Amino acid sequence: MILFKNAVYLGKTVDLLITENTEENASHGFAFDADDGLHRGYRNYGENYGKQGGRIVALGENIPAPQNCTVLDMQGKILFPSLIDVHVHFRDPGMEWKEDIDTGLEAALHGGYSHVFCMANTSPVNDNEGITRYMLEKARNTHPYGPFLHPVAAATLGLKGEELTPLGEMAEAGCTAVSNDGIPLYSTEIVRRVMEYGSDLDMLFIDHCEDPYLARGAHMNEGKLSAKLGVKGQPDMGEALQVGRDIMLSEYLQIPVHIAHVSCRKSLDLIKRAKERGVDVTAETCPHYLLLDENALDNYNTNAKVNPPLRTWDDVLAMREAVKTGLIDCLITDHAPHAEHEKENPLDMVPNGISGLDTALTLLWRLVHEGIFTQEDIVRAYTVNPAKRFKLPCNTFAKGDTADFFFFDPDIEWTADKENFHSKSANTPFLGQTMHGRVCTHYIGGKKVL
Ligand code: DOR
Repeated sequence: MILFKNAVYLGKTVDLLITENTEENASHGFAFDADDGLHRGYRNYGENYGKQGGRIVALGENIPAPQNCTVLDMQGKILFPSLIDVHVHFRDPGMEWKEDIDTGLEAALHGGYSHVFCMANTSPVNDNEGITRYMLEKARNTHPYGPFLHPVAAATLGLKGEELTPLGEMAEAGCTAVSNDGIPLYSTEIVRRVMEYGSDLDMLFIDHCEDPYLARGAHMNEGKLSAKLGVKGQPDMGEALQVGRDIMLSEYLQIPVHIAHVSCRKSLDLIKRAKERGVDVTAETCPHYLLLDENALDNYNTNAKVNPPLRTWDDVLAMREAVKTGLIDCLITDHAPHAEHEKENPLDMVPNGISGLDTALTLLWRLVHEGIFTQEDIVRAYTVNPAKRFKLPCNTFAKGDTADFFFFDPDIEWTADKENFHSKSANTPFLGQTMHGRVCTHYIGGKKVL
């Protein structure tokens, strides 16, 4: 067992006692039913996975050290349950110069994540069981103790939006969710079929919302700034149109939907009204939509080019409010690594995307520091809600919970650059900035991974 002393959790000084392995669990009588509401994808790492690994024994003040227990002083460190990111891009197979499964999981591990959901826009696309099995095997080989990778099945062959993928075989191979992320679905009929087919297989539909006609050829948000820069923009309404369409489908079909990377107030208004009507819709957003507006592109900064695009300051304020109220259920990175040479071109020629796993928590902590969020907001949106929605084990620090947690040292100062990133790509609009705070120790299933 390990006793961590004097950490800070939700503003209080606490001790944390954990078991480290299955033998120690037995002496505490921890039972675990691997089918207990968890998604079958949780067993991608072995049928008995859920029964193994360390657990939480107690969290509280002044916990006495049991016999033969390691005691570690964590004075001044912030305790967090491990984060669950349901939206990352690891570029493996096919674009490993940007990121591969090994480096992506390494960035996740150092970022505080125990589970990541990997989107299907690899090359070839993850639209068949062969790719799914390859991804899982590589993840298991490089990181057998986590962070755990969950491949998301492509909704359509080659993400082309025309033919459905063999979801049955991909579910069997280990996919737990389905998405056309990266490329919007123009056919409402196809969206309907994906929702129906996916729901039969317990695969949640993660919906990339963007009207493909309004967004065609756009490189940023449409408004005064895009006019000034002479760059084609896409309006926020383009996102909201598909949010509205797919909420209506979800309501009609009585099938849940999860809206990906929400960026603007117009989408939030629709999600709010849908939730009030009882539609089974959840939504996610990323740190960059909470910290930056379109002005980050004023100097044609290609590292700020992302899809959906950074919007207006009014949208940033709406997004912050939505995270606080729970209207936005999940925080994600949309970790989208691209190599330096790919971003070193004119704005209209570079790919969309921000590398996010290295900086996400530090950026969110900045918002805590500014009094905009609390640690509780982060824990709810980055651990509890995604665990619930995607049926994963959740550490709430209750007795018997899986011992997935990390310590964040708010005093570590570091620079956001290639040297300090664990990801292969440092394409971030925060490049060169001094960051305050970083994950310093991480345990997954009671095992020290950092
Ligand atoms: O900015 C983005 N980059 N948005 C997406 O939807 C896809 C992603 C990527 O794969 O690079």
